[in-house]
Amino acid sequence: MTLPTMPGPSSPGPLDRPRRLRTSSAVRSLVREHSLRPADLVLPMFVREGARENRPIGSMPGVEQHTMDSLVRAATEAVERGVGGVMLFGVPEHKDAAGSGASDPDGILNQALGRLRRELGDATVIMADLCLDEFTDHGHCGVLDAAGRVDNDATLERYREMALAQAEAGAHLLGPSGMMDGQIAAVRGALDSAGHLDTGIFAYTAKYASAFFGPFREAVDSSLQGDRRSYQQDPANGREALRELALDVAEGADLVMVKPGLPYLDVLREVAEASPVPVGAYQVSGEYAMIEAAAQNGWLDRDRTVLESLLAFRRAGAGTVLTYYASEVAGWYRDGLPPHLHEFL
Ligand code: PBG
Repeated sequence: MTLPTMPGPSSPGPLDRPRRLRTSSAVRSLVREHSLRPADLVLPMFVREGARENRPIGSMPGVEQHTMDSLVRAATEAVERGVGGVMLFGVPEHKDAAGSGASDPDGILNQALGRLRRELGDATVIMADLCLDEFTDHGHCGVLDAAGRVDNDATLERYREMALAQAEAGAHLLGPSGMMDGQIAAVRGALDSAGHLDTGIFAYTAKYASAFFGPFREAVDSSLQGDRRSYQQDPANGREALRELALDVAEGADLVMVKPGLPYLDVLREVAEASPVPVGAYQVSGEYAMIEAAAQNGWLDRDRTVLESLLAFRRAGAGTVLTYYASEVAGWYRDGLPPHLHEFL
């Protein structure tokens, strides 16, 4: 493309002036390419077994482990504000090597899914994290073999059992997040053979062994021994995200996700361009913690930073964004954004 370089006779200076489209709020609004809608946002929530009152999560100010009742109240409020869905995580009272609570119909996550589905019906999309790390005493996403390694195929058996329990409890979408090979096929097969044809899979497709999950460990009382580098992706790699995408789609994923979010926008862009199914991004616990910590110090304008970060996911190609800000931000849109946030309308 060649740009005109000759100055005009009566107005020396550049002929091409992109600033023209930035001169007023009205013209900026006219040419704005991307926007946020509450319906694009999904709220991740934590529910704690046996809790009598909510417990704050120190590294995620404003986020808490809910009791069953407060979970229902907060989810209902988020849905009334217009969020697109909720993603549930369970914090069990007892953990063991197999993560038994994950597939127990009386386990906290399955109980909470059932309760939400009864209260909210199909008014929103109820999603479940499908992973063992919240339920195992060693904190890994799968079961271990005799040598202490995460056993891929034995873990798939557990995921099948979990999938059935979650579908029977009433989850609309299951979110396998353990990064085991073949997990989408295993979950799809289990669902189909039990007749849960309409229960969908929102696959955590490109998930990295990330330091940004740090605060999540506190959120689910995890006591992880070791690290997740033998199953989650190497932060140095982009290409394998596309391989994981191809596998997840072939195995039956209905939606796919990239996670963490902001540090992996390049991966999100590539996955969004290649994916035949809808794509989501997860603004994870550490991203939330960074914004909150800087805002508490007065170093960042919190509300604008929140909206700018969410908009970045949309620009990079995400349809759906999972964020701990979902309910709050949906409330801002419902009540009308204040003037200093109008660039996000
Ligand atoms: C696995 C899971 C994790 C997160 C979502 N699902 C933790 C991990 O893989 O280490 C992290 C979410 C966050 O950090 O906000 N159950």
